[in-house]
Amino acid sequence: MRVSLETACALLQQGDVVAIPTETVYGLAASLSNPDAIEHIYTLKGRPANNPLIIHVGDASQVLFYTKDIPEGFEILANTFWPGPMTLLLPAEKEWVPSIVRADLDTVAFRIPSHPLTLQVLGYTGPLVMPSANLSGKPSATRPEHVENDFGNTFPVLDGGECYRGVESTILTYHNDKWEIVRLGALTAETFEPFLGYRPRVNEFVDEEYPVCPGQLYRHYAPLAMLLLDPILPNEGIEAIVGFSERQYPPQYRLFELGSSQNAEEVAKNLYRIFRLLDSEGIKTAWVDTHFPDSGLWTTIKERIRKAGA
Ligand code: TXA
Ligand code: MG
Repeated sequence: MRVSLETACALLQQGDVVAIPTETVYGLAASLSNPDAIEHIYTLKGRPANNPLIIHVGDASQVLFYTKDIPEGFEILANTFWPGPMTLLLPAEKEWVPSIVRADLDTVAFRIPSHPLTLQVLGYTGPLVMPSANLSGKPSATRPEHVENDFGNTFPVLDGGECYRGVESTILTYHNDKWEIVRLGALTAETFEPFLGYRPRVNEFVDEEYPVCPGQLYRHYAPLAMLLLDPILPNEGIEAIVGFSERQYPPQYRLFELGSSQNAEEVAKNLYRIFRLLDSEGIKTAWVDTHFPDSGLWTTIKERIRKAGA
């Protein structure tokens, strides 16, 4: 159910969970000051309790209140990439960050989104915790109707149209005196290099004992359809192809177009919509064309496709 900005803010302030747009994907928002609402997020999504949440704020001074021992380079990252699709893991001032938000870890995740509507909401409500607005394991929602498909037509959604980036924020942590990427996302490793003086290493290493980013442990971003990622198109057993608009594929298969293989931004924006479309069209098995470079935003796209196909 689409709600106005005023209603969305009022619902959040009274302790309800509301879906709101960001420039990356839609988020399922609850007020940081309402533990019951935060718990409700976990129930709604079917999210494991050991998977912490990102706190979204309207300005960086709020981050300092909830954190301590700020690592070197924080300021340059914050000044350059916020508002925007970057999330930073920082040592938590535990007294002020409820353990349910950080899943009992010593760190807490922060982001300032750049979508004008999100910033307006944050201006009224103050800090909001927000995972992606999808059932746990499913592709993230990039349109209001995706949220309604997962949570029902009466679930309150603030309509911000289609998300401009289409994939989640890039998450960085400070480790051994350097920033590292623990979740690939809308900002590429290369983007940070001129500002940090080095290219952050991508470290998605996770194990049960020491999860750098617990969410990375789970199967993710996945449609119901089985995705085949072999380099060569199989001879049989598929119903559809997920591919690129300028390429030729055998005509007997239904084609789901991600966009142009020359335009990673366009493909990132379309990716989850296409995954969801496979499901609404009842596709059981699809081959995904993964012939594209392994650099820049394509690296994120490849990682999402791999996780979805796992
Ligand atoms: O673009 C985004 O980041 C979107 C929009 C709504 O802002 N949010 C999002 O949230 O993708 P979510 O919950 O779907 O993914 C957040 C990831 C999870 O994998 C979680 O494990 C990780 O961030 N995370 C959150 N807090 C953490 C912490 N303190 N330490 C390690 N990982 C953390
Ligand atoms: Mg998510």
